[in-house]
Amino acid sequence: MKSYLVQPVASVAGSVRVPGDKSVSHRSVMLGGIAAGRTEVTGFLASADCLATLEACRAMGVTVKRHAETALTVHGRGLHGLTAPAHVLDMGNAGTAIRLSMGLLAGQRFESVLTGDASLRSRPMERVAKPLRQMGADILTTDGKPPVTVRPAKQLTGIDYLLPMASAQVKSAILLAGLYAEGQTTVTEPAPTRDHTERMLRGFGVHVETTGRRVRLTGGQPLHGTRVEVPGDISSAAFFLVAGALAGVQGLVVENVGVNPTRTGVLDILRLMGADFTVHPRAAVGAEPVADIELHAAALRGIAVPEEYVPLAIDELPVLFIAAAGATGETVFSGAAELRVKESDRLAVMAEGLNRTGVPNELAPDGIRIQGGQRLRGAQIDSHGDHRIAMAFTIASLLADAPLLIRDVENVGTSFPGFVETARGCGLDVALA
Ligand code: S3P
Repeated sequence: MKSYLVQPVASVAGSVRVPGDKSVSHRSVMLGGIAAGRTEVTGFLASADCLATLEACRAMGVTVKRHAETALTVHGRGLHGLTAPAHVLDMGNAGTAIRLSMGLLAGQRFESVLTGDASLRSRPMERVAKPLRQMGADILTTDGKPPVTVRPAKQLTGIDYLLPMASAQVKSAILLAGLYAEGQTTVTEPAPTRDHTERMLRGFGVHVETTGRRVRLTGGQPLHGTRVEVPGDISSAAFFLVAGALAGVQGLVVENVGVNPTRTGVLDILRLMGADFTVHPRAAVGAEPVADIELHAAALRGIAVPEEYVPLAIDELPVLFIAAAGATGETVFSGAAELRVKESDRLAVMAEGLNRTGVPNELAPDGIRIQGGQRLRGAQIDSHGDHRIAMAFTIASLLADAPLLIRDVENVGTSFPGFVETARGCGLDVALA
C-alpha cells in the first residue's frame, strides 16, 4: 500500500496546471459513443476513472483512438448502435461512470452488468435505479449497491421527476435514459448541481430546455459528433486554490481551470473566508468557461458556510476543511450529508484525520464544525483509499509542524495523475513512501 510522506513547508509559489475535468471527460466519451459521426476530444483526463468509462464504451462496440495521452477520437455508433458487451463492465472506483452508464444502458436492447471496486460496491445505486424503473427500465441492484444488472426494457417512457437529493449523477442518468424514452423527460433539482450533461448534450445538437431548477428533453433526438475541449478540473485545482489562499506568499497561479458557475462553490466559500484571489477569464473555447486563478496568501477567517454553496463545492469540501483548520475561529459546514456516500464517508474520514493532527472538530450527521487557527501536529493519516482525502491532507502540510504520513494513496490516480509532481512544482515536499 503506497503512502505519501509530506514534510511541512511554509509557502507555495509559481504556476500550476491541473489535468482535465473528470465529469466532462466521462461525458465526452459516453455522448461521443452514442453520437453519429466522429467526436474529437482534447484535454481528456487520462485517469483510472475516465479510462474505465472509455473501456466500457469500447466493450460496447465504440472505437476510441487515443492520439496522445489526452487527445481522443470517438467514432460514435449513433443512438441505437451500441452492442452487447462480452463481459461485466468494471467501473473501478468511479461513481460517475457507473451511475451515468445505468442511464445510458437502461434504453439498450441488450443486458449488461456493471460493477466496481470495494468502495464503489458499497455506494448507493437505488437513487438511480428507482427513477429509471419509473421510466420502464429493468434494473437489479445488489442490496441497493453494485453489481447492477440492466436488462433490456420494452420501451422507456419519459417521467417528470423531483430529485430527492442534489445529485448531478442522478440527474444525468435520467436525462441519458430520457434520450431513449418516448415523450418528454423532466428532472427538477432541489438545488442547482453541475450542468455538464445539459451543456454537452446541446453541443451534440440535442435540444435541452432549462428553466430554473427544471431540465427537460424529448426522447429520440439524434446526437451529432462534435469537438469537446475539456477544461482543467476545478476539483483538482481546489487543492492548489486552498494552498495558495493559505500560503501563496508571493502568489500562486492555477491555470486553465473550468469555472462553470455550477462548479465554483469553492471560490465563493474561499471568498467568504477572506481569501485574496483574482479570476482571469480565458477566451471561451467550448461549452465550458475557463480561467486562470491567481491567489495571494491572506488571513482566512472562520464562517458558517451557506448551504446553497455545498452542492456547488461538493468534491472540494475535504480540502475546504483544511482551509477551515487554517482559518481563525470556527467554520461550520452543514447540509453536506452527501459527503457520507462518496468514495469514503468523507465527513468521518476527514474528522478522523483532523483529530490525529490535533484540530478540534465536532461531527454532525450532515456536517462538521472545525476550530481553526492552530498548527497541526505530525501524524499518520489513513485516507481510506479516497483520493480527495489523500490530497487534502497533503495541502495540510502547509499548516503542520512535523511530517504527515498519508496512507493508502493509490487512488489519487483515479482523478489526478501527476499530483505529486504538480504539488512539488509549487513547493510542497511530497515523497512516495
Ligand atoms: C459528479 C457528480 C457529483 C460529484 C462527482 C461527479 C458528476 O456526484 O461528487 O464527483 O460528474 O456528475 P453526485 O451526483 O453523487 O453528487
